[in-house]
Amino acid sequence: MGLTIENVSVVFPAANGRPPVSALSEINLQIDDREFVVALGASGCGKSTLLNLIAGFLAPTSGELTLNGRRVEGPGADRAVVFQKHALLPWLNVIDNVAFGLQIQGISRAKRYETANKFVGLLGLDGFQKSPVYMLSGGMQQRVGIARALTCDPDVLLMDEPLGALDALTREKAQELILNIWDNTHKSIFFITHSVEEALFMGTKLVVMSPRPGRITHVFDLPFSRQFLDGQSAREVKAAPEFIRLREDVLKIIFADEEAAA
Ligand SMILES: Nc1ncnc2c1ncn2[C@@H]1O[C@H](COP(=O)(O)OP(=O)(O)OP(=O)(O)O)[C@@H](O)[C@H]1O
Ligand SMILES: [Mg+2]
Repeated sequence: MGLTIENVSVVFPAANGRPPVSALSEINLQIDDREFVVALGASGCGKSTLLNLIAGFLAPTSGELTLNGRRVEGPGADRAVVFQKHALLPWLNVIDNVAFGLQIQGISRAKRYETANKFVGLLGLDGFQKSPVYMLSGGMQQRVGIARALTCDPDVLLMDEPLGALDALTREKAQELILNIWDNTHKSIFFITHSVEEALFMGTKLVVMSPRPGRITHVFDLPFSRQFLDGQSAREVKAAPEFIRLREDVLKIIFADEEAAA
């Protein structure tokens, strides 16, 4: 089943004297169950627009999205979003932030804490349940955001540059954590990043997009996350000749797009 995106285009209408924007043009993409799809591309190529369509925050101008056979017509519990900057509720502590989606669904306090605690542990946040979120580091806050999304048990996890604000070491650790969680929870993931290395390491499928209008120009199947999950170290995977070769090929594509757009 999974998610099917068919001939989807998005045009933002003219506003304040600016012409209409063709944000996405004729997008076709299949995200199978348990697949990890990464989108990469120059700024403005429509990555977030595509994520917002899948989330149901935005409707396509033409074309159709279906999730598990049902047309996407708005947000739903089968999808959860992790934003670039965590969107936590600053007046709540860690456990109440993680359990927030369940609270909205009217689930009892005991039951929602039980579920939330499982993901707090999975994300390495044990012991911080009662901490106010503003006291946590950026990397920990981001992990709270991921735990919150997972707690709602979505079929599809949507992540818009979730690691963009982290320092290099924390970011590499978070990549490994997300891959392990993906492997354990069997979610489908749609993940946006500006880092070519991160894209190649994380995804099972890479879509490279190009701006004006936003299109998918290249699709690559990727073996690297499986190599990591099968026991190779992350650095070993990222330093292998086939990884470096593909990294340089993809960088060339992206730089050419950035130059054409400049
Ligand atoms: N609500 C909106 N109204 C009008 N134009 C919009 C709106 N949202 C996005 N756009 C335009 O659509 C295009 C695609 O934007 P989008 O945010 O999807 O790009 P992106 O690939 O996520 O970029 P970045 O890498 O900078 O996050 C851009 O030209 C943007 O200005
Ligand atoms: Mg974006």
